[in-house]
Amino acid sequence: MKKIAILTSGGDSSGMNACVRAATRYALNAGLEILGVMRGYSGILDEDFINLESKSVSNILQRGGTILLSSRCEEFKTEKGQHKAIEILKKHQIDGLIVVGGDGSLTGANILHKNGIKVIGIPATIDNDIYGTDMAIGVDTSLNIITNAIDCIKDTASSHERAFIIEVMGRHCGYLALAAGIASGAEAVIIPEFQYDLDKIGDMLYKRFRDGKRNSIILVAEGASSAYEIQRKLQSKIGYETRITVLGHYQRGGNTSVFDRILSSRFGRAAVEALMNNRSGEMTGLWDGKIELMPFDAVLATKKLLDFKLLQLAKFLV
Ligand code: ADP
Ligand code: F6P
Repeated sequence: MKKIAILTSGGDSSGMNACVRAATRYALNAGLEILGVMRGYSGILDEDFINLESKSVSNILQRGGTILLSSRCEEFKTEKGQHKAIEILKKHQIDGLIVVGGDGSLTGANILHKNGIKVIGIPATIDNDIYGTDMAIGVDTSLNIITNAIDCIKDTASSHERAFIIEVMGRHCGYLALAAGIASGAEAVIIPEFQYDLDKIGDMLYKRFRDGKRNSIILVAEGASSAYEIQRKLQSKIGYETRITVLGHYQRGGNTSVFDRILSSRFGRAAVEALMNNRSGEMTGLWDGKIELMPFDAVLATKKLLDFKLLQLAKFLV
């Protein structure tokens, strides 16, 4: 293993930069050459590589986004595109590749692995929907951003005695909404994994209002419904004013949290180490505080279930 490369792909998440920095510095210290691939898989197909030096990754540890840029590359989803990518990686004598991204990016990484390219994946998505790791890169930062935003909204909600319906990301997964709901003391959390009854939620909010609790926060994961839809159905039931906030991509950027800086650094180092040990087709993961490797096949074949205890906790705290 002499020359490796790293790319960031799919939806970005805060901590990708910290991960690129750690992989770069660890690789250089181990005597490897390391290239950055620009714009995820598109950068392989366009042969858009940059040499990473220690200085190239200075002052990025704290910054959200990714200096390597990210993209969604349709061409790489085709067999022709994948074949072209493999030829290009060979042509540039890249002995190992690190793919930082969500489940789509890891699926692509597995295809490269099965075609003889040495690849290690690093889970990065704010959705926290990847099996094989307790936390993906960016989840903690997003939760902090969402929680800070809700704290601000609660100030104005209480001044005006309003209910706020706040929509957060999570295409198929309610982890962000549930965890942010616990952290911010939301009155209701609507997530795709759990059937909800808007009549019951409406009754509960109305009773609270009557009992003097005159503001509330209802969190909606985008995969369950939209804030507009929930407002339309709840407004008449609860009898007091509602407002909407859709946090959107605001929750995907921002300075990387301490937890994510450390996790990303650990993952970055572990991925380089794995390649140096001739391993491939595996993803770094956080299991009970330890960094472990899990085969892509197991990661991708298993649906990550929502932590039932977290759900129970949320119910007890309302
Ligand atoms: P994420 O990695 O955040 O889940 P996407 O699902 O958009 O984001 O995937 C990112 C990129 O990974 C895609 O644009 C594509 O290049 C590659 N990819 C996704 N799914 C596949 C697949 N089934 N086969 C090959 N490549 C894929
Ligand atoms: O990264 C995952 C995610 O944040 C989803 O929760 C969301 O639906 C999606 O990305 C939106 O990404 P984009 O606008 O980049 O397509």
